[in-house]
Amino acid sequence: MALEKLLTYNTQVVAVVDQQWGDTGKGKVVDMFAEWADVVARGTGGSNAGHTLVFDDKEIILHLLNVGAVYDKITILGNGMVINLPALVEEIGGLAEYGINCDKLRISRDAHVVMPYHIGRDQANNQSLKNGGIGSTGRGIGPCYADKIARKGIMIRDLYDRDILHKKIRKGMFLDAATENGLKYVLEGTQLLVRSPSQITREVDVMMAHLEPLGERIKPYVTDTVKELHAHLREGKKILLEGAQGLLLSIEFGTYPYVTSSDPSLNGTAAGVGLSARDVDLALGVVKFPFMTRVGGGPFPTELAGKAGEEYCQEENRAKENELSRYNIKFTKEGDKIKYDFRDQKILELVNSEDELTQAIGIRLAAGEFGASTGRPRRIGWTDAMAARYAQMINGRDVKLILTKADCLAGIEEFKLCCGYAHPSFGMWIEFSRDSNFLRKVEPEYTKFHGYGDLSEVQKFKDLPGSLQSAINLFERYAQGKVVAVSNGPKKEQVIFRR
Ligand code: IMO
Ligand code: MG
Repeated sequence: MALEKLLTYNTQVVAVVDQQWGDTGKGKVVDMFAEWADVVARGTGGSNAGHTLVFDDKEIILHLLNVGAVYDKITILGNGMVINLPALVEEIGGLAEYGINCDKLRISRDAHVVMPYHIGRDQANNQSLKNGGIGSTGRGIGPCYADKIARKGIMIRDLYDRDILHKKIRKGMFLDAATENGLKYVLEGTQLLVRSPSQITREVDVMMAHLEPLGERIKPYVTDTVKELHAHLREGKKILLEGAQGLLLSIEFGTYPYVTSSDPSLNGTAAGVGLSARDVDLALGVVKFPFMTRVGGGPFPTELAGKAGEEYCQEENRAKENELSRYNIKFTKEGDKIKYDFRDQKILELVNSEDELTQAIGIRLAAGEFGASTGRPRRIGWTDAMAARYAQMINGRDVKLILTKADCLAGIEEFKLCCGYAHPSFGMWIEFSRDSNFLRKVEPEYTKFHGYGDLSEVQKFKDLPGSLQSAINLFERYAQGKVVAVSNGPKKEQVIFRR
């Protein structure tokens, strides 16, 4: 039996979760199992996610939909998600251009709607937090979940009840506004605006007019997905849970406040579609190896060049195009897509630079580490086995690990693995901490490894370069998790399963 079949043998529910700060390649891993599944369900986040997969040699980036849509599987957007309606409608339209119809899409009536004013608030927060800010994706995720928790959120089902919708929009837009002499004072972006009662009515009407056609457009897909998913479970259908974001970005378990506003742990991923984590037969944790990334602010102990690396990524003009031009690397532009040879000799020189900031630029270019949602450069560091051990503890001892992206560093002369931390006051401190202030102070302890070459032709785990195998073995010991596969390219077939 093929090794991947062995993994899913006798399983009905498989979950794919991210053990780091997002962007580990969940899209590809879900893609590997999509054909196996009857149902693909996602339960957290919104259009802050960007899942890239290669379909018929074309790259597709999904933000709200899950990989199930591409394979014409039952595609559930669960109760835990926050949905930007124009973005969803656009994504459905985008897939239609590939000849993919979303007939089997199911949108939870309990999911929350990201409103234009949530996006406004998110972007306003980002500006004022520029120094040391969280650096959210600006997609309105935080403010939408804030309204959900404050019990004034707009749910998908509210779109179909005019009275409720009207009241909730009014509440959502103006409840927190200060009132004086019958006028409301509302913060729009960074500006304080004044609104009379008639203006308020007009604005609520405008918002209603914006939402109603969108609500009608998605109406055929809206249903009680919790009930439906449990029916599928009873019927023995195979269910694949697609995680979004990453454990270290979790509102509960991540490096608060540098987190997203949902819980992308295994528990949160299951809860976000109405399942219990106990229903999950096989949990797969995705880990970038031997480098990892983070987008936005927050502590990142193994970051190359440390604080300077973080600051570099926060500066303006760090887009892909600028980095390529700066080092005279050839690229072509098709619309807003930039194409270049990841294996360009000049990029490899940067990868092997003695200077960490330059090396980070090299790895970023060699691995295409620019945000799929925002185009921002991702911060680069070595894989942190301490962080992975923490993720393993929270997501569960028997999460099986899939390593991704090692192939991108083909030609690297030396790489490192973080197997411990030292703290200036506490000495050797070997545990990850979700206390951001504490984590900012730790110094990683590294084990160094010789580099490796091309991995694209490797078929068996035992044929991987020796140094990579040693690093993986050491990683398993420190992370306390079993590595079951190593991805060696962007396509779903490019993966080496391990016995
Ligand atoms: P996928 O699913 C990487 C990060 C943002 C920011 C923080 C808060 O592609 O792995 P938010 O907009 O969620 O309020 O931003 O969380 N973030 C992600 N980083 N991958 C993601 O999703 C992310 N979703 C949110 O960069 O630091
Ligand atoms: Mg992503």
